[in-house]
Amino acid sequence: MSIKRIVVLFSGEGSNLENIIKKLHKKSFGLDSYEVVAGITNKKEAKGIQICKKYNIPSYVIEHKNYTSREEFDTKLVEIINSFHPHLTVLAGFMRILTPIFTKNIKAINLHPSLLPLFKGTNAIEKSFYSDMKVGGVSIHYVSKELDGGEIIAQECFKKDEDETLESFAKKIKSLEYKLLPQAIVKILTKKA
Ligand code: GAR
Repeated sequence: MSIKRIVVLFSGEGSNLENIIKKLHKKSFGLDSYEVVAGITNKKEAKGIQICKKYNIPSYVIEHKNYTSREEFDTKLVEIINSFHPHLTVLAGFMRILTPIFTKNIKAINLHPSLLPLFKGTNAIEKSFYSDMKVGGVSIHYVSKELDGGEIIAQECFKKDEDETLESFAKKIKSLEYKLLPQAIVKILTKKA
């Protein structure tokens, strides 16, 4: 039995963080036991911090406004992440553009609320809801130097209903995220190196 260590990065609500904790933290998959060893955020008001506290998981705030450049911020972020020796770092609603200092040093995956390569960047839910597309979806991809552009690991779509509202659309996205992200983490961590 070995322990697979996961670090989760978030900037807001942290509902995906909580879902990961509920489904994976201190649970066994095959011969491994999974542990969320830390939660890290760039926003001191992020609700995810309370979620970490609730589950006794260490949380760290690194406010980007205290750093003079993205590179300086990423250097600190990488240092903190690496101090936990994670097998995988998961970006679950982490709203930061990352530099090669991060992407070259950290094995990370990102959750994105659209069918990539469509609707990259911020406000992806709104952009995909107001588009002409008849479907919405969720993607999980490796973090690379290209924003929302790394190799796709998992992706699923759902039908936009005739009477769909932005709220009902966002709800569908969330429930798909809660299903796909833990599955993708297990898939990666059970893959032979
Ligand atoms: C999620 O919908 C995630 O897909 C999105 O932020 C939300 C975080 O929700 N991420 C992005 O838009 C990344 N570009 P949560 O804080 O409740 O988990």
